Amino acid sequence: MSVVLVFALFLFELLVISISFCNGSSDHMGCLENEREALLRFKQDLQDPSNRLASWNIGGDCCAWAGIVCDNVTGHIIELNLRNPFTYYQRSRYKANPRSMLVGKVNPSLLDLNHLSYLGLSFNDFQGVQIPRFIGSIRNLRYLNLSDTQFVGMIPPPLGNLSNLKSLDLSLNYLYVENFLWLSGLSFLEQLDLCYVNLSKASDWLLVANTLPSLVELRLSNCQLHHLPPLTISNFSSLTVLDLSFDQFDNSLIPGWCCGPPKLLAQLPTISGWRAQDKAKSASLARFRKVLGNSNTFELLVEKIKTYLATFGKGCLSAARVCCAKHSSRDIGLSYNSLERRIPRSMASLCNLRTIYLSGAKLSQEISDIFDIFSGCVSKELEILVLQSSSISGHLTEQIGHFKNLDTLDLGNYSIVGLVPLSLNELSKLRILHLPDNKLNGTLSEIHFVNLTKLSVFSVNENNLTLKVNHDWVPPFQLVQLGLRSCYVGSRFPQWLHSQKLYKF
Ligand SMILES: *[C@@H]1O[C@H](CO)[C@@H](O)[C@H](O)[C@H]1NC(C)=O
Ligand SMILES: *[C@@H]1O[C@H](CO)[C@@H](O)[C@H](O)[C@H]1NC(C)=O
Ligand SMILES: *[C@@H]1O[C@H](CO)[C@@H](O)[C@H](O)[C@H]1NC(C)=O
Ligand SMILES: *[C@@H]1O[C@H](CO)[C@@H](O)[C@H](O)[C@H]1NC(C)=O
Ligand SMILES: *[C@@H]1O[C@H](CO)[C@@H](O)[C@H](O)[C@H]1NC(C)=O
Ligand SMILES: *[C@@H]1O[C@H](CO)[C@@H](O)[C@H](O)[C@H]1NC(C)=O
Ligand SMILES: *[C@@H]1O[C@H](CO)[C@@H](O)[C@H](O)[C@H]1NC(C)=O
Ligand SMILES: *[C@@H]1O[C@H](CO)[C@@H](O)[C@H](O)[C@H]1NC(C)=O
Ligand SMILES: *[C@@H]1O[C@H](CO)[C@@H](O)[C@H](O)[C@H]1NC(C)=O
Repeated sequence: MSVVLVFALFLFELLVISISFCNGSSDHMGCLENEREALLRFKQDLQDPSNRLASWNIGGDCCAWAGIVCDNVTGHIIELNLRNPFTYYQRSRYKANPRSMLVGKVNPSLLDLNHLSYLGLSFNDFQGVQIPRFIGSIRNLRYLNLSDTQFVGMIPPPLGNLSNLKSLDLSLNYLYVENFLWLSGLSFLEQLDLCYVNLSKASDWLLVANTLPSLVELRLSNCQLHHLPPLTISNFSSLTVLDLSFDQFDNSLIPGWCCGPPKLLAQLPTISGWRAQDKAKSASLARFRKVLGNSNTFELLVEKIKTYLATFGKGCLSAARVCCAKHSSRDIGLSYNSLERRIPRSMASLCNLRTIYLSGAKLSQEISDIFDIFSGCVSKELEILVLQSSSISGHLTEQIGHFKNLDTLDLGNYSIVGLVPLSLNELSKLRILHLPDNKLNGTLSEIHFVNLTKLSVFSVNENNLTLKVNHDWVPPFQLVQLGLRSCYVGSRFPQWLHSQKLYKF
């Protein structure tokens, strides 16, 4: 199926190319002179140590330059995507590679790109200046991404003039706003990511967000929000992701507008809220970044969890449960909130759950019981199962093999005893397997790993396991993180580690 599709697309491209040859002219195809010059001026203000803009040459067809997309018919530049895609590996995680950052300032020549609708500059370094006000005049923008670009200061209100915006990402900078009024004209906005923007003065955030009729994703993680205002009428008809993680609300319960009428909850399936489990960690952006890095494997986990995480306050849990069942919510997260001490059997009917994230919840339950609850329909869809710091005990059972869709299994820091079941090898999608600080014993053998081709993070630190594999074993996976502390690996250096090209010793 997909082969056919790819082939068809390929033919289609050939068709398009050959048409452009037949036309033989570049009157309307290819680059417009004044726009090429604008790009060259834009380039002049940037250092480009990794030569990402090597194709940006005087005289060339700028529609073919790296990061540029032109309109097929008019030749106008409609996309400028210079996000820094490169990552590098350091101390067991991936980071954005500083050497492939563009460094410098944003030249106002962008204003000459009258048809620009997509501007992506994330992960570059604009050296601690304010976001230029003129960006608010690139009036056709639909997509603006300045995530992690070292901008500081107040978000310029003229950005609110970009009335066509569908997606605005200003996350991971050193920014603040005084209020949300400037956003109120962005009625097409679907995605808004202001993570790490200091919103402590923007007490109108919810009121204004509530007037944005198209909003699908609202990410306000680590925004110094302290108060969840009441909302008498909720307008969030499309919202599916609300990320309030790392905000430290004084009112501990998610208010009525979240878990009031079931209808609303159906529209608000993902309430992401990591209540500061580590205040020191969330206190400072710089330190937080140091802990998590930019884009690395661990952060993939964190990101996924943040994306899917749903935190419901004490009063919300039962409503959430009902709503999840009724309205096929996909994610449930209950981190650091009061929670009854057992996962209720009724959760077995939440067949669409994709993420279960329970952190800091004081569950006292046998892991076999939890597997049992989820081993029906839940196990078929579930991608992330994170149960941290509870007092879970007992044995892993063969039911672990039911979770065929599992990407992440994190059962760290428990009292789980005994053997690791062989059916682990049925989890062919598993990427992160994190079982440290348990009391697992017995042997892990090649058979356990035979289908784990995607495995990338593997930790069984501080158990009492023996890893017993043939001397010439070549594992099916490439790890970026490995934790075998306190494991018995035999008296010889494990040869198979040599096959792990991504793992740096
Ligand atoms: C260019 O034209 C093709 C065929 O009409 C279309 O599929 C494609 O999306 C167009 N690209 C742009 C950037 O407009
Ligand atoms: C902005 O860019 C970053 C990095 O490329 C990406 O992870 C993020 O998803 C983008 N934001 C939006 C809203 O597309
Ligand atoms: C742009 O926004 C600023 C501040 O929000 C406002 O004063 C100005 O009139 C706006 N300009 C246009 C052209 O809408
Ligand atoms: C956020 O802004 C408030 C008010 O301007 C300020 O008191 C606070 O220190 C800021 N927080 C950070 C982490 O900069
Ligand atoms: C709901 O959204 C509309 C715009 O779509 C706005 O006019 C109205 O004031 C909003 N209602 C509330 C209660 O915010
Ligand atoms: C493990 O749990 C104990 C208490 O349950 C806690 O004190 C300890 O910090 C946890 N360790 C890790 C690495 O999370
Ligand atoms: C796992 O590997 C075994 C042996 O190679 C194979 O028979 C089985 O079908 C695989 N299972 C999955 C789920 O991939
Ligand atoms: C694993 O530990 C349990 C006690 O926790 C013990 O009964 C069992 O014999 C051990 N198994 C192995 C293979 O060491
Ligand atoms: C670990 O397991 C071995 C047997 O495999 C046993 O002799 C030893 O006492 C165990 N250690 C702990 C700390 O349970």
